[in-house]
Amino acid sequence: RRTAQEALKRLTVDVPDWPEKGVTFKDITPVLADHHAFSAVVTALAAAGRDDHGNVVVDKVVGMEARGFILAAPVALALGVGFVPVRKAGKLPRESHAVSYTLEYGAATLEVHRDGIAPGERVLMIDDVLATGGTADATRQLIEACGGVATGASVLMELSFLDPRSVTGDLPVSTLLTI
Ligand code: PRP
Ligand code: MG
Repeated sequence: RRTAQEALKRLTVDVPDWPEKGVTFKDITPVLADHHAFSAVVTALAAAGRDDHGNVVVDKVVGMEARGFILAAPVALALGVGFVPVRKAGKLPRESHAVSYTLEYGAATLEVHRDGIAPGERVLMIDDVLATGGTADATRQLIEACGGVATGASVLMELSFLDPRSVTGDLPVSTLLTI
């Protein structure tokens, strides 16, 4: 976890005024490009899917398009469970649930296949950044619409100045780095 935090601090690049003025973009591509850093952050993110004895306590890992996909798929493999994509509107080919929400910049709709999560399944959400909390909260609603249980969200970075916890409410959130 320490290694993951250090790698994140060292390798994440702040890009000012991107994608629009006033927003500082957290570019994690240098973290992904470094094998040791990528491996450390995946292991640290996956810890949210285990109990204190190291036993896996989730049935599925959900990743939020697009940056969440990159992290969630290896986390699912690390935990030995399946991966389910939560996609932006209009990308999934079969019957889906949809939830609309507000983003740090703009608005969006997220969707999940109705049969992606079975009733009663325990689901861990993985994403890169928790900003306003809108993406995580919408994803939680999608998991619950399938009848699943959202056990929590595990993210690399939390932008605490945007107060995401006021939106995510009682959802357990684990964060490697709080900014
Ligand atoms: C970014 C980021 C998170 C989300 C966090 O995704 O990857 O998913 O914003 O913001 P929130 O907490 O305010 O919802 P975005 O949809 O901008 O782009 P991406 O497709 O590159 O992941
Ligand atoms: Mg995203």
